[in-house]
Amino acid sequence: MSATQLPRQVKVIEVGPRDGLQNEKQLVPLATKIELVDRLSAAGFANVEAASFVSPKWVPQMADGAEVMAGIARRPGTIYSVLTPNMKGFEGALAARADEVVIFGAASEAFSQRNINCSIAESVARFAPVARAAKDAGLRLRGAISCCLGCPYQGEVPVAAVVDVVQRLQALGCDEIDIADTIGVGTAGQTRTVIEAAAKVFPIERLSGHFHDTYGQALANIYAALLSGITIFHSSVAGLGGCPYAKGATGNVATEDVLYLLQGLGIETGIDLEQVVETGDFISQAIGRANASRAGRALLTKMRDRAAAASA
Ligand code: HMG
Ligand code: MG
Repeated sequence: MSATQLPRQVKVIEVGPRDGLQNEKQLVPLATKIELVDRLSAAGFANVEAASFVSPKWVPQMADGAEVMAGIARRPGTIYSVLTPNMKGFEGALAARADEVVIFGAASEAFSQRNINCSIAESVARFAPVARAAKDAGLRLRGAISCCLGCPYQGEVPVAAVVDVVQRLQALGCDEIDIADTIGVGTAGQTRTVIEAAAKVFPIERLSGHFHDTYGQALANIYAALLSGITIFHSSVAGLGGCPYAKGATGNVATEDVLYLLQGLGIETGIDLEQVVETGDFISQAIGRANASRAGRALLTKMRDRAAAASA
């Protein structure tokens, strides 16, 4: 393992409106989704994953992606990303004026079948026209790889399987590739091993870490990934989320917790932590869920105490 100095700056991609909400059983009102995206872009995220253009039979919560994209107030410079598993999804994304499309595969055959109903090889064949169309339209192209640190159906996932999918997505021209721990089982040493293997075949500055927090390891994994040289991370405000095809997996690592960690390390993100804390409170209340961010809850109490003291 090669020790690297910590970076001065990190890009945090907020995935709450997509990865966070997609697993909610009750349909979240369109206005709430739009307000969530707008609050997040106002807080300073350079990239917000706003919606999915997937089959509404597979993920009913994401059926209104076009309406979400039509309703948001676009902040200049913010990249609004959407998931596109096939050309039908891409056409929806293009019509909705997405800035970045995300093709999403897996390092595990079993998960690929459950999540997108095809093998890894078939998925790459389906992604190829999406990738070409994205390039032709001048859109950014991101590739997500699920189950890089473990699979809910197959268990262990060989590092070589992750590297193989990284290479296939690279061949499609992905600008960025996400190493995802879909079910949050990975540990810090494993994270470094997988990331450093992926970085041998794809530039590390364009690899990202997408960690779920099921086993409470996500922040440790982020720190490990930082030491390996990763400078792009995904997180979800209030720790919302989970994947409908990864039973038992909890949400992404909470954005508030990640920002608190990075702030403590003196790493810049350009994001206003207090605005994110307020947004975490807004969405938790709106969908009737406990706020899963520990930093978010602690900071909210402090912010309320401060406001009460100021008005006393
Ligand atoms: P399929 O059933 O094999 O697709 O699903 P199909 O091509 O046979 O089409 C079946 C029906 O779906 C047809 O409609 C199509 O028109 C429709 P019908 O004729 O029956 O009325 N359809 C679509 N409708 C809207 N948009 C589309 C679309 N495509 C087909 N794009 C498919 C294959 C990929 C579509 C399906 O399996 C699917 O939508 N899966 C998405 C699952 C998903 O969104 N999972 C969560 C996101 S991944 C994730 O969370 C992990 C990540 O966060 C990283 C990590 O943490 O690991 C990214
Ligand atoms: Mg995810």
